[in-house]
Amino acid sequence: MSGRGRFISLEGGEGVGKSTQARALAAALRARGHEVIETREPGGSPGAEAIRALLLAGEADRWGARAEALLFAAARADHVERTIRPALDRGAWVVCDRFLDSSIAYQGGADGLGAEAIRALHAIGSEGLLPDRTLLLTLPDAIAVARETARDAGRPDRFGARDPAYHARVTAGFRALAEAEPDRWRIVDAEGEADEVTARLLTALDDLA
Ligand code: TMP
Repeated sequence: MSGRGRFISLEGGEGVGKSTQARALAAALRARGHEVIETREPGGSPGAEAIRALLLAGEADRWGARAEALLFAAARADHVERTIRPALDRGAWVVCDRFLDSSIAYQGGADGLGAEAIRALHAIGSEGLLPDRTLLLTLPDAIAVARETARDAGRPDRFGARDPAYHARVTAGFRALAEAEPDRWRIVDAEGEADEVTARLLTALDDLA
């Protein structure tokens, strides 16, 4: 376990409901008496939020894959140092909407840099910190695309604007990561009512309490 608290990340492709579920999960854990920090990537500290603006706005080809991977790793380093580690050290639970595995699935997998390069950046930037549990939210592609389109109202960020084949590589990458490391990961069906999904997420944390 990392520090005295618990570190939980939520992962998945676009439109699977991660942000809504991160909020609901944090509320449910608070109701159980834990101190809970809700955070997200890229972002989660003032420096990392500044890097987020560089990463998500602008033309799709604003950054090459290597520069982009370094920016995500730099944002993560600041987020870990300023927000996540201090929270874990004082015993809080950290619920994070995306973490390292997003870099492995997007930059490492879909952009072709390879998982090992991304892990090397993480070793340098964040001393290799890993979540205690990573929850992969899954939805059939058609439902995820419909939700994403409704949310972005035709104005996707630089990543949402990529083609369906790119997003299919991301989804397959996440699943492969989850299957390779079953102790850390749980795959959670994100279909159905939001409170049913939250209940499934809580069950997937039962052994961490
Ligand atoms: P989100 O706020 O919708 O999760 O948007 C963040 C976008 O950034 C999303 O399309 C995934 C992408 N991303 C990466 O490509 N690599 C990363 O390491 C992270 C954290 C996000």
